[in-house]
Amino acid sequence: MKGIILAGGAGSRLYPLTLVASKQLQPVYDKPMVYYPLTTLIESGVREFCLISTPHDLPRFRQLFGDGSQWGLRIEYREQAKPEGIAQAFLIAESFIGSDSVTLILGDNIFYGGDSFQKAFAEFTTGATIFGYHVNDPERYGVVEFDSEGKAVSIEEKPKQPKSDYAVPGLYIFDNAVVGITKAMKPSPRGELEITDVNVEYMRRGQLRVGRLNRGFAWLDAGTSSSLHDASAYVQTIEKRQGIKIGCPEEAAFRRGFLTADQFEALIGKIPKCEYRDYLAEVLAETRRKQ
Ligand code: TTP
Repeated sequence: MKGIILAGGAGSRLYPLTLVASKQLQPVYDKPMVYYPLTTLIESGVREFCLISTPHDLPRFRQLFGDGSQWGLRIEYREQAKPEGIAQAFLIAESFIGSDSVTLILGDNIFYGGDSFQKAFAEFTTGATIFGYHVNDPERYGVVEFDSEGKAVSIEEKPKQPKSDYAVPGLYIFDNAVVGITKAMKPSPRGELEITDVNVEYMRRGQLRVGRLNRGFAWLDAGTSSSLHDASAYVQTIEKRQGIKIGCPEEAAFRRGFLTADQFEALIGKIPKCEYRDYLAEVLAETRRKQ
């Protein structure tokens, strides 16, 4: 399973913060926003990534992550010249995807809680898997409607009159057919290759599964100044209360076995003295105590 992190877009709603750094590099409490979606995919076992961003911002991501080998990953980079739709990522990353299945996560989506994703990845074989999450403003998103048996029967992009309160969050899992499906699509009236159109096509083929994310699950969107602040506050609350970190790629890579204990220790040694380093050192010490 290959992983695409889509981290382009205009980020106009975060102006003037985005004069300094792109949206997905803004801090969410104690780490850059993009750490969270990257960690979500590592936790689900994804090890090979393609990060897509604007020509302007891509060099900064490259500086941040390099080739990913320090975390036991492989990370490639591709430019999206213009924000012409989320689904365009499958065309941009075609050579990276090759003949594999692929998951796409948006660089500004923060997820926390439960093992719904891990299960969905473990069970995935063919077709498409997306998710539905109850929100109070579904008209801002792709909206999925369920029948009385819980089967998804329609998906609409930003409908004026949503048929349900279930929005589709920015994490999608597709088999390799997604490349051909996207190639056959035309841009929408707003000039974008729509991810909703991809999902609708899988639904038409009878190959779309929609997993409902339950109440205990958090999906945070950090696209406005206010929601960015809320996301930081949420992460701080959980981290302070539980003494664990959310969105920590080093920890996830270690727990997933992408890094040995010795490699993890060497990595920690390169981090400047700070609370983040202390945390990782404690993760390592605790694991060693249990062995
Ligand atoms: P949006 O929230 O629709 O847009 P945006 O990030 O450009 O922000 P704003 O509305 O404030 O200008 O995009 C959702 C995510 O998808 C976001 O992380 C950016 C990303 N994206 C791309 O990388 N390329 C694209 O072509 C599109 C449409 C979105």
